[in-house]
Amino acid sequence: MSAVSSNQGSGLRRQTRTISITSGKGGVGKTTLVCNLALHLSRMGQNVLILDGDIGMANVDIMFGVRPRFTMKDLLINQRRIEEVLVQVEPRIWVLPGGSGFNDLQNMSESEKRVLLDQLRGLKQTFDVMLIDTAPGIDNNVMYFNTSAQEIHVIVTPDPASFADAYALIKVLHTYHRAKRFSIIANQVRDEAEGLQVFQKLSDVCQKFLYVSLDYIGAVPTDLSVRRATRSQQLVLKATPEAPASHSIKKIAEKITTTQNTGQMKGGIQFFWEQLIGVA
Ligand SMILES: Nc1ncnc2c1ncn2[C@@H]1O[C@H](COP(=O)(O)OP(=O)(O)OP(=O)(O)O)[C@@H](O)[C@H]1O
Ligand SMILES: [Mg+2]
Repeated sequence: MSAVSSNQGSGLRRQTRTISITSGKGGVGKTTLVCNLALHLSRMGQNVLILDGDIGMANVDIMFGVRPRFTMKDLLINQRRIEEVLVQVEPRIWVLPGGSGFNDLQNMSESEKRVLLDQLRGLKQTFDVMLIDTAPGIDNNVMYFNTSAQEIHVIVTPDPASFADAYALIKVLHTYHRAKRFSIIANQVRDEAEGLQVFQKLSDVCQKFLYVSLDYIGAVPTDLSVRRATRSQQLVLKATPEAPASHSIKKIAEKITTTQNTGQMKGGIQFFWEQLIGVA
């Protein structure tokens, strides 16, 4: 499956919800969550676009068992069309492989920006949601992805380093990039109680020192099935649908669909990209 199917028909173009999945510390489970959440959202009938914004290891495609022929770099430099770069990995899931195309987002030339926006405008496929898998940390590109998305979902684990780095990330996003709302997903927790505890602690320090209140989405337990699935390049939701982590991830996907989006920014793919490359 690689070609993009034609438009779903309806002339009514719903606005795409844009959600970044990010973290301060690496290896906390962003890619795992992005891919499995995408799968459940797609099974709920949503068209999902995954933007692989992690330049280091483009591993979203590995999780879906595909090897993209092109990346965003080919779109920007080698004049590939966006339909050629987009990879359909499931009936309702498409991946936009970033590759090194995003190395220097804000310094894209005017012609590169034009190419990108023209391609996006011509895109026939519609998406209900775009999930952005970011690199960890507070690099510029991570900041741009996060602040261009309508909603920022921060993944945190009970590991003190992950906690400290999540706080640092929220602090920088809030202080220097004026991000106001953050949703938290706790991963690799012992149980629901520990997830809530991690959230509460983070929420308390953010409230106290940044005057920012956080929203809680839910928690995913540490589950060997996840690790096993990753090792065999599968999604835990497919490999072990009854595993505790699979149940939690489904619950989180359902919560995301029912949560009212209260972000201050407009949604939509076009708007996201305009923000990202600084033309809005
Ligand atoms: N709930 C969980 N239980 C057990 N293992 C998990 C869980 N979530 C993630 N993992 C494992 O942790 C490792 C890192 O996960 P993943 O690659 O999704 O993290 P990441 O945040 O995307 O990392 P990076 O910052 O390097 O992109 C993987 O081996 C994955 O299987
Ligand atoms: Mg990752």
